[in-house]
Amino acid sequence: MSKDTNTADWPSLWERIVPKVDQMMAAIGDKAPHVAKADGIYDDTRLDWWTTGFWPGILWILYDRTGDERYRNMAWSWDERLEQFMLQPNGFDHDVGFHFLPTAVIKYKITGDADARRRGLFAANFLAGRFNPAGSFIRAWNGDKLGWSIIDTAMNLSLLFWAAKESGDPRYAHIAKAHADTVLREFIRADGSVHHIVSFDPETGERIEALGGQGYGPDSAWSRGASWALYGMVNAYRHTGDIAYLRASERVANFFIANLPEDQVPHWDFRTDAELAGEPRDTSAGAIAASGLLELATSLPESEGRCYRSAAERIICGLDEIYGTWNLPNHEAILLHGTGHKPAGQNVDVSLIYGDYFFVEAAAKLTGWKQRVF
Ligand code: GLY
Repeated sequence: MSKDTNTADWPSLWERIVPKVDQMMAAIGDKAPHVAKADGIYDDTRLDWWTTGFWPGILWILYDRTGDERYRNMAWSWDERLEQFMLQPNGFDHDVGFHFLPTAVIKYKITGDADARRRGLFAANFLAGRFNPAGSFIRAWNGDKLGWSIIDTAMNLSLLFWAAKESGDPRYAHIAKAHADTVLREFIRADGSVHHIVSFDPETGERIEALGGQGYGPDSAWSRGASWALYGMVNAYRHTGDIAYLRASERVANFFIANLPEDQVPHWDFRTDAELAGEPRDTSAGAIAASGLLELATSLPESEGRCYRSAAERIICGLDEIYGTWNLPNHEAILLHGTGHKPAGQNVDVSLIYGDYFFVEAAAKLTGWKQRVF
């Protein structure tokens, strides 16, 4: 890597992000983007797909950073669109935090809009209603897997912590903490690697087994799962002050950083049977981890947090220098080479809107933005 992270010019990265988002606005319009393949055109996904909060989330960050009303106007109706979809037969699940934190909750925080606050609390009620008290976990997905829980949910807990604070009702936080304790106990291994899925008996709550899910296998180390755990656990620490979550986030961070390749952007899984060098990257895992590492750095004393901030900066430099679309003006995404679901052969080596969101979020944090919702 050519860039010295001690002197990296984050304002100049931000100045490249702003016109890129302007181009994206013209190209994306009313679409609900999820994936852009080789043609560089974002698709238009169904509104209950877990990724639909991230594009408006980018717009809200841009509005908060620049005060430019164009971003606010384009982001404004997204929480209502999502709510309307929730009021008809739909597939919303444990990921409602991904839908409503970067839409309703940030809109309420920035503008004070009462309807946005109501929508955020509505989504929190939905998430809380998925809690299984016997096994102390929030249920993943829909369908017949009543006892499945997944690491991704750790990142959605901020919706419950926000609702507890906003409403004054501690039940939301009790549920978030109970799920976070299950993450500590059942998902994060001693070496800091993470399971994607853990299955429980939905009647008795007894643990049955870990499953590979979007990772290579039950014993592998899916890199985006590690990013969700790293970031989700430091958030749980920020909301509760419980040091066990902070230590867990550090453990995952240490594993993540130690397993990064030369250019600092992770492979889709850190532990496969193949030579990692030939495996696809997942730039989204890198962007999520970078933003989480910045959170971790600010949660620790300066001397202990410094190494995590440096690691975040190195990842952002790698993404910026090697994986950005800066020289592809017609490409609708910001980052190339994300991996959605490798075992299913879905969305491998593509651009992913959540990679773009967390890249923008991390860049905003590096230039002083503090209005985070995760
Ligand atoms: N929340 C699903 C994923 O990370 O792919």
